[in-house]
Amino acid sequence: MSNSTEKILIIGAGGQIGLELAFELGKIYGNANIVASDIKENTALSSYIFETLDALNKDQLFAIVKKHKITQVYHLAALLSATGEQNPMFAWKLNMESLFHVLDLAKEKHIQKIYWPSSIAVFGPTTPRLNTPQFTVMEPSTIYGISKQAGERWCEWYFHKYNVDVRSIRYPGLIGWKSAPGGGTTDYAVHIFYEALKNKSYTCFLSETTALPMMHMEDAIRATLELMHSPNEKIKIRGSYNLSGLSFNPKQIAEEIKKHIPDFKINYQPDFRQAIADSWPQSINDLEAREHWGWKEYYDLPKLVANMLSHIKI
Ligand code: SER
Repeated sequence: MSNSTEKILIIGAGGQIGLELAFELGKIYGNANIVASDIKENTALSSYIFETLDALNKDQLFAIVKKHKITQVYHLAALLSATGEQNPMFAWKLNMESLFHVLDLAKEKHIQKIYWPSSIAVFGPTTPRLNTPQFTVMEPSTIYGISKQAGERWCEWYFHKYNVDVRSIRYPGLIGWKSAPGGGTTDYAVHIFYEALKNKSYTCFLSETTALPMMHMEDAIRATLELMHSPNEKIKIRGSYNLSGLSFNPKQIAEEIKKHIPDFKINYQPDFRQAIADSWPQSINDLEAREHWGWKEYYDLPKLVANMLSHIKI
């Protein structure tokens, strides 16, 4: 569809979500209508127009939007929960200022639509941990979570004040085989597959009973596109939508992997990421996403594990 009237800029296109989203957006809008940007070049993005972009550089961002007549921005650049704790002031700066730059572009009518991801990290130790509802106590304890929660409030404010069409999902941990995660607390659930295939053993940085909300990347990308393609009036939440896929702990995923690789062994050496995981929900209630725009997940744990093991090439 290279005659699409939409021109899409992906910020942070080289990241775990960006690489997969670029591919799917390319299928819908035509690769010639996708402008992939990242702080550094990435050979995996060679099928699209590529621009080097520091998401903190407003002038550079504006120049790219004008040059390519961008209509929509998927803003994915961020420091995640684990790296954010190592570099808190930079995490705050990057996650917040880059969001303002994109929201302002829409406020000034240079672009029409924004996608910006939030996270289960917006919840904290005082949040009910099981079947966590959309609207509940939110006292995040990581800088990443604080930045995402503040970002949600800003998105909603720009929507009400300036009618900015911004849409968002609170992603759980994302698990896919096409791209690698970086800097998150849920990353173990991707690393485990590579180690299982390579070494038949994995040392997990979370304890065996640490259950977290997770989702196959295919489901997450489909949810993102379904949300972005829903009619405006269906989007009743302009902060960010809870989204649930599945929920498991390291022991449960290891047991499922053992069904395919019987001599797989897992050990546990929790580190600083354990405290982050302990502050997050174990499962998510996403009633609103289901009711408002028809969300339904596909992957359960057996399907996810079989899919990952069959695609990863070591
Ligand atoms: N996967 C993210 C993290 O672990 C959560 O949004 O930081």
